[in-house]
Amino acid sequence: MDPLRTFFMEDYLEGSRFTARYNLGESGGRPVTVGELLGGSGVSPERAADVFLSTPLNDSPNWGRADLRDSVAAMHPGATRDNVLITTGTSEALLLLFRQLRPRRVALAWPAFQLLYELPMQQGAEVVRLPVRWDARGVPSVDTAEWLERLERERPEVVILNTPHNPTGLVLEPALLDAVARWAEAAGATVVGDEHYRFLSSDTQVLGATVYRPGSRTFVTGSFIKCLGCPGLRIGWCVGDTAVLAGMQNEKNYTTHTVNPVTEWIAHEVLKELDSPALRLARDGWRRNRATLSAFLERSRGVYGAAPSGGLVTCIGLRGVTDAEGNEARLAALSAAGVFVLPLSAMEVGELDGTHPLERGYGFRLGLGMAPERFAEALEAIERATAR
Ligand SMILES: Cc1ncc(COP(=O)(O)O)c(C=O)c1O
Repeated sequence: MDPLRTFFMEDYLEGSRFTARYNLGESGGRPVTVGELLGGSGVSPERAADVFLSTPLNDSPNWGRADLRDSVAAMHPGATRDNVLITTGTSEALLLLFRQLRPRRVALAWPAFQLLYELPMQQGAEVVRLPVRWDARGVPSVDTAEWLERLERERPEVVILNTPHNPTGLVLEPALLDAVARWAEAAGATVVGDEHYRFLSSDTQVLGATVYRPGSRTFVTGSFIKCLGCPGLRIGWCVGDTAVLAGMQNEKNYTTHTVNPVTEWIAHEVLKELDSPALRLARDGWRRNRATLSAFLERSRGVYGAAPSGGLVTCIGLRGVTDAEGNEARLAALSAAGVFVLPLSAMEVGELDGTHPLERGYGFRLGLGMAPERFAEALEAIERATAR
């Protein structure tokens, strides 16, 4: 990996996100309108219009609006308002956090969401890969003993735990989270949890388990914008040690400064009550699409893999593909059929000596954000383009 090359996954997405017949390349939910989001959060149109039109466009407080910080703290047992910094998306939280932590060595599940390794690498950090493996059916898993052994051998200063995981859809087991927390405690390492998809990580609970532990060695970044289909809101947070957050906020003062007050108001309405129709609708759509995908994968003759345990993406393999040419040909057939997916190679998945085709980067990342009715239709288009 060349630390100086540009990020390219987002450019790839931008190329087709507005034009593809079936957009399955995204990692977020079906986009909702401001009205749908506020209505689903219990705000009437009259009240929404009132608040919107009377919101003064001054700077928000530098750390974020107090009631919003309280709502975020409430999702992280042991945290208080002082442990929360509101940011412009999860991306800004990660950027500011890594600029404070400046680790020389970071470990994270591999493959990974690009930002999670690019940011430390741009500061010269080495990356330790903690492997995710797939079985013959394309079901991903993690070997806790292998991870712990690698952590002990490589001694990273920071361990990033992205759960639910982009791109494999894994939800890391509480026992693994505990084991890594214990290792970090003993080794004096810091744990960073990227919980961008936390609202879609449990079948029964709105909020899945958090990596957050009170103290100075755990940080969590997150948002609801992808889970709820409103990435344009650009809001996120970092939860952790107040002194480190103060350093982040200081830098933020001279860059994005604050999040705009309209966005903060909407975020406050969304998070003040987690048992809301907006969250229920998003979670229902997620469960339906996972069930549709599972049933489809059972019978598909073109592709294989597993529905994600959490989050809105999973890695899908192409049946019978064992080399780069075969991979290209099937991806081209998908594209010709109007199906837009993210090739794993665009996420830099691809171990030349990998034993599984998905490890070698053959296949694609599939997004589950589409409306349930259209999702089933899109999967049929995948079958037509790939079945052998
Ligand atoms: C795991 C993960 N972390 C962080 C981000 C960045 O999120 P945001 O759009 O809030 O900046 C994403 C976006 O897809 C993601 O998947």
